[in-house]
Amino acid sequence: MSEHEQELAAAQREQWQQTYGEHPGMYGEEPSEPAVHAAEVFRAGSAREVLELGAGHGRDALFFAREGFTVLATDFSPVGLEQLRETAHAQGVAERVTTQVQDVRRPLPLPDASADAVFAHMLLCMALSTPEIHALVAEVRRVLRPGGAFVYTVRHTGDAHYRAGSGHGDDIWEHGGFAVHFFPRDLVDHLAEGWILQEVHTFEEGGLPRRLWRVTQTVPR
Ligand SMILES: C[S@@+](CC[C@H](N)C(=O)[O-])C[C@H]1O[C@@H](n2cnc3c(N)ncnc32)[C@H](O)[C@@H]1O
Repeated sequence: MSEHEQELAAAQREQWQQTYGEHPGMYGEEPSEPAVHAAEVFRAGSAREVLELGAGHGRDALFFAREGFTVLATDFSPVGLEQLRETAHAQGVAERVTTQVQDVRRPLPLPDASADAVFAHMLLCMALSTPEIHALVAEVRRVLRPGGAFVYTVRHTGDAHYRAGSGHGDDIWEHGGFAVHFFPRDLVDHLAEGWILQEVHTFEEGGLPRRLWRVTQTVPR
């Protein structure tokens, strides 16, 4: 990692820590649309456990737990995960939720072929370089069992904030303190090599609106 990438990564972690500290539960308690969809995909694949990456304060992790899944919720923000644990207790699902502070630039904390399902909403499009994104998806592939499903979402180059603010190279643009890697379509296709690409679904979220793809890909059996 270059010095610039290290500085950007540290600044973004601090940005998220501060944001969750100042705006507890900022995404609300309702699950995202991709999480509702992912629960159907995971259930159809007989998944019982879900690994979530970039879970934040847990609107989706807690939904998966309420739906009966056992969840390992990870994020590099301990502040977000603390809020997630408090809400898990309040909602009576704490026994099905484990949290772990995890920077996705490091190897995932699971053995090979041990996970049923992996979910990541707006995590792969954080301040990660293209090689870091490839390494992360290789890690997801490593931990998923044959037939396991990976549902992720990313903001893409059709988003209104693409090329707004200051550029960090590699399609990473920082606006309002948040750095986003806007995905070109060919990156989605490259990340699906060696997988079965089930779907690339276009959708929007929030008032801006953010323009995203929801990608579903599975490990061949
Ligand atoms: C856009 S927010 C989405 C949060 C959550 N998925 C949701 O939709 O409610 C992105 C999340 O990714 C986390 N994040 C960003 N970079 C990360 C990294 N390198 N490793 C782990 N988590 C990261 C942030 O702390 C934040 O919680």
